[in-house]
This record gives sequence, structure tokens and C-alpha cells, in this order.
Amino acid sequence: MGGTSPVASARQESDRTVRPRFGTVVATRSNRAGQADGDLALPTAVCPGSFDPVTFGHVDVIARAARMFDQVTVAVLHNPAKQSLFTLNDRMAMLSEAAAQLSGVSIESFQGLLVDFCRARDITVVVKGLRAGVDFDYELQMAQLNSRLAGLETIFVPTSPQWSFVASSLVKEVAAHGEDVSGLVPAGVVARLRARLDAS
Ligand code: PNS
Repeated sequence: MGGTSPVASARQESDRTVRPRFGTVVATRSNRAGQADGDLALPTAVCPGSFDPVTFGHVDVIARAARMFDQVTVAVLHNPAKQSLFTLNDRMAMLSEAAAQLSGVSIESFQGLLVDFCRARDITVVVKGLRAGVDFDYELQMAQLNSRLAGLETIFVPTSPQWSFVASSLVKEVAAHGEDVSGLVPAGVVARLRARLDAS
């Protein structure tokens, strides 16, 4: 299985086009004078998730968020109550490798509520990928609750069609049965999946 990685696609795209950056049309926090009340300043966004493991679908969304925002914080949920295949450290390491070529992207972890993570960092915007209708109801509910709790704004990014069927859970399932997933996840994830599944 092969294919162009989302980071390479995003780079090719930005070579062809003038990078649209909100910073050029919307004031940043340090440059808010003259903005009307209620205008959004959008220097920073968060891309939250479990990333167990990161897929090319995730990388696509993170890369596109990085083209819209000066800083993108990828927030990896540490939920001790939920069994994950990979440890938090492994999930963060795979994300760091996958996002190494993307400027302005940092990887952090969080425990508890996303709104608390965002409040502590003065982040007001969440970017989430939407694959299909099945994602929508749950994502809408979370977006509305996050808005109610902390005024968080959520921007939904439609997943690029080539990744719309890719989900961490499916990748793990087919990899466990020996399928080649190298076209669905970054190379570092393929290697760690193999090692993790061989060990179990
Ligand atoms: O990769 P996932 O599983 O789709 O990510 C879901 C995630 C981590 C973004 C979501 O479950 C979350 O934000 N969890 C943190 C706990 C929280 O804030 N719950 C209330 C959501 S309204």
C-alpha cells in the first residue's frame, strides 16, 4: 500500500497557492486594537484526540489546521479508565514524528476536560475532522457542550476523501490480522504497530 502523505500533499498545495492564514485577515491577540467586540482572534487552535495511533487522516487535519493558525496544539487525551493499545508516551512520540515537518505544531497531553486544558492555555478554538455523518452527532454534542462550558468554538474540517474511511480502531483491527497498513498511517506507526502486536 503506498500513497502521498498528508504532509507532502499539504506542502504541494501550499507551493501552488498563497497560504491562506487567518493572521493576515484577522487580528491576533497582540494586535486586537480596532477589532469589534465579539470578533475572533485566532492565533491558536487545539486538535484534541486519543490518537491511538495517529493516522494519515489525523495528520491531514493537523496539517490543514497548521495552515490556518499560527500555533496548533495537538492535545493527546490520557484517560487511565480507557484501555489504549499504545502508551501515552508512544502516542505522543508517533505524533511528534508525524508532525515533525509541520511548523507551529506542538504535542501535549491532557487529562480530564478539554475545556480546562484550553482555559489554562487561553485557547478558544478546537479543530476537529469530520469523516462522515456517523461522526457528526457526537462531535456536534461535544462542540456544543464545550461552547456552553467555556465558550470554546469548534471548527469542523471535512476529512480529505482519501482518508475518510480511516480510523485508528480499524487500523488496529486489520493490522492485528496481518494486513499492510502502511498507506493508512505514518511509517513510524507501522513499525510500532508491528512491535506492539508481535509482543501481545
Ligand atoms: O480521538 P477521539 O476519541 O475522537 O477524541 C475524543 C476527545 C479526546 C477529543 C474527547 O473525548 C475529549 O475531549 N475528551 C476529554 C474529556 C472531555 O472534555 N469531555 C467532555 C467533552 S464535551
